Amino acid sequence: MVNYREKIAEILAEAGTGLSYEELLDTIEAPVDKSMGDYAFPCFKLAKAMRKAPPLIAKEITEKIADNPLFEKVEAVNAYVNVFISKEAFLHSVIGEVIKVGDNYGRSTQGEGKTVIVEFSSPNIAKPFHIGHIRSTVIGNAIYKLYDFLGYNTIRINHLGDYGTQFGKMICAYRKWGKKEDVEREPIKTLLSYYTKFHEEAEKDPSLNDEARAIFAALEKGSPEEVALWKWFREESLKEFNRVYDMLGISFDSYAGESFYSDKMPRILEELEAKGLLQESQGAQIVDLTEKGLPVALITKSDGSTLYITRDIAAGVYRKEHYDFYKNIYVVASQQNLHFKQWFTIVEMLGYDWAKDCVHVPFGLVSLEDGTMSTRHGRVVFLEDVLNRAVEQTKQIILEKGVNTDQTEETAKIVGIGAVIFQELSNNRIKDYTFSWDKVLNFEGETGPYVQYTHARACSVLRNAGDSAAKIGDGSKLDMHYLRGDAAFELARMIYEMPNVIVDAAERYEPSVLTRHVVDMAQAFNRFYHEEHILVDNEAEKEAKLALVSAARIAIGNGLGLLGIKAPEKM
Ligand code: ARG
Repeated sequence: MVNYREKIAEILAEAGTGLSYEELLDTIEAPVDKSMGDYAFPCFKLAKAMRKAPPLIAKEITEKIADNPLFEKVEAVNAYVNVFISKEAFLHSVIGEVIKVGDNYGRSTQGEGKTVIVEFSSPNIAKPFHIGHIRSTVIGNAIYKLYDFLGYNTIRINHLGDYGTQFGKMICAYRKWGKKEDVEREPIKTLLSYYTKFHEEAEKDPSLNDEARAIFAALEKGSPEEVALWKWFREESLKEFNRVYDMLGISFDSYAGESFYSDKMPRILEELEAKGLLQESQGAQIVDLTEKGLPVALITKSDGSTLYITRDIAAGVYRKEHYDFYKNIYVVASQQNLHFKQWFTIVEMLGYDWAKDCVHVPFGLVSLEDGTMSTRHGRVVFLEDVLNRAVEQTKQIILEKGVNTDQTEETAKIVGIGAVIFQELSNNRIKDYTFSWDKVLNFEGETGPYVQYTHARACSVLRNAGDSAAKIGDGSKLDMHYLRGDAAFELARMIYEMPNVIVDAAERYEPSVLTRHVVDMAQAFNRFYHEEHILVDNEAEKEAKLALVSAARIAIGNGLGLLGIKAPEKM
């Protein structure tokens, strides 16, 4: 596919402007108002070196470059060279490329040989996997897919919260009041109820806390009975988490959670000690970060047990040594901004230059229409319940519409779950947002179902076209002047932009950039679909239009796929 910006920079470089190719690339603009050209080159910068007035320079350059089959016309307007690209050449280039590479449209090799770790989801064992966790899970998965598509070697890590003093409490509570069958039947809700009961009872009888502490100490020392119980809690919780991951179509390369680093802590403490960074404070050990403008970081408690932050430092060191990452990305709520600043800084103070390659990708809170969710008050909304409800409601909508009876179940799953994922990725990630059922499942708004429906519509046009769709071939023989109309051309332009959008979304760790573009493509497709008759009698016209439909279907399908959403062929 022709990269117009680069091509124009090359042509300008040959025409002789005194600017380097890179400077030219930077200078070329893409006017929003297309009456000023698809691309425009301002000549102000050249005036000094060329000792001429910019409008004159614009005129001279225009004369030199105008005669090129890639351009429809080139105009000098004041100090600008306005370039109008040949619509037909453009259409051939874009549509030909999409047909050629298909599902790989937008894929690149820019990341070859570089490893990117994306850590996401990371729920806590024996705690609810609730609606709040959807953000890290879905945003992280999209970021992983973007980097993977750009050719990076990607590692997905689920840094499970599977360690800490709360497990002493949980084991203690289980021994006192627990039942095996109950845990097996409903692990998380049951374990959580033990945990809550423990806190109630400990208020009346504080000695329970000492008991729990002793149990955790035994667990840390590797006492078989405690370890077995902890392992069992972990496995049962994972079964529940995996049910949700299956629904979302998400998997991980590693579940190395906090516990994985328990034996890697002494080394970190030694390194901190050797660098003179550790200080004693009331029996605990701290790193003083005041000079860096940050609060003190607590590294070990007075009883010697390590903390969340210590495990993150150990995990960072391990990941560098084990994976030799180019980037180590953490998709974690913005409430933990300070935590990440602190430990990235500590890693830097330890002399590790890869501290700069660690990226915290924060996101805002999700709340529910009927008030903020609160774990403490037991108003937990389980993610699994939300997904099931989305599927159920979608099924009702499909049944009301009275279509698609043979595949209702399957379609309801694809659309219901896709709708939740899409809504999650629609907003700029840093913004807090309110989860709204009306918005999620609206088939007309800028939603997942709308885009999926558009994809299915494109599939249906291609199915109904019969033989003609097969005659498109590689697209090189098509008569593209049939696609000169505004609606068709605008759609092609958006398909052309897709690879840039993918790069941009990845670089900014912002899947919503792609979501936005996918919605724009769907809207452009529907405008084309409504304004133009596609399956016309004239075979040449029909084939050109079908080629565009096919390219749009591929681009929209790829976009959805990168967001982690399935693209149904029928709806
Ligand atoms: N388990 C933590 C929580 O639920 C998130 C872990 C984030 N990742 C990390 N490396 N600290 O809040």
